[in-house]
Amino acid sequence: MQHFLSLFDISPDDLQLILRTAGVVKQKLAAGDRPNILKNQVIALLFEKPSLRTRVSFEAGMAQLGGESLFLGSDVGWGKRESPSDFTNVLGQFVDAVVCRAKQHAQVELLASFNAMPVINGLTDRCHPCQALADILTIEEAFGSYAGKHLVFVGDGNNVAQSLALICAMLKMRFTLACPDGYEMESDWMAMVQAAYPDAEIETLHDPAAAVKTADAIYTDVWTSMGQEAEMVARRQAFKDFQLNKTLLQAAPTSARVLHCLPAVRGEEITDEVIDGDQSDIVRQAGNRMHAQKGLLVWMLGRDWIGKNVV
Ligand code: CP
Ligand code: NVA
Repeated sequence: MQHFLSLFDISPDDLQLILRTAGVVKQKLAAGDRPNILKNQVIALLFEKPSLRTRVSFEAGMAQLGGESLFLGSDVGWGKRESPSDFTNVLGQFVDAVVCRAKQHAQVELLASFNAMPVINGLTDRCHPCQALADILTIEEAFGSYAGKHLVFVGDGNNVAQSLALICAMLKMRFTLACPDGYEMESDWMAMVQAAYPDAEIETLHDPAAAVKTADAIYTDVWTSMGQEAEMVARRQAFKDFQLNKTLLQAAPTSARVLHCLPAVRGEEITDEVIDGDQSDIVRQAGNRMHAQKGLLVWMLGRDWIGKNVV
């Protein structure tokens, strides 16, 4: 059974096919064509944390593909009312796939372990693979191609950064993390990336201005992720020199694009003038969540259509 717990679950060829499918489905939508590729299929959304983009983009995307989605709130009692196997094996009889946003990555692994239905990771503490799909689509649209591009992430070596490092390795793009000491990406994650993609061009620096010097895209995310609220004061102190502001942007090529997964804390990791500035693709990036995930859903649940419609 095909799961999408992380980008390690797919090959670079699969990834490129998903991105091409997303592009085709996005073009069709722009032309007013909403093919019912997933007619009568149903996905569930099981979320342990808040969400705007991930939830609404999956729900709207599934509807545009002719399918249905069910948002499952806390009353379904995941992890509380019954055993994980009973919960998952029952859910798997009702839906064709589940998108899960979990506090712990182990929770999505547990859900997938029963093979009751395909599981899509809608963000965990470890990675955010759906976000990375949309980010690459955005870079491709900005430059005409993602090939050979240099993505620089300024901030925490968190779930978003980890997925970006991996997707860059898969697509032979260069990835740089500029972070304070102690906020690097997890060493076991990086060891897995290096083992799977030995030629990956990934570096970690502690000087943001040096890091952005050759950037094609500069990306940032919140300093305090969901679930880390108790560390907020310490994090504000640790990250104070890593704000994406006008001065830092001036250290990058003028052609560099600005990305952020959102939600942002304006005035903290990024300033208003940068987020709203000419170099920002952030709003279109958020819109691409839906297009990228439609590509993923069609790849997972409507493979026959791809064979006939995507080259
Ligand atoms: N970027 C992202 O995942 O946003 P949400 O938390 O709103 O889903
Ligand atoms: N790193 C952030 C991303 C939110 C989309 C978090 O985990 O809260």
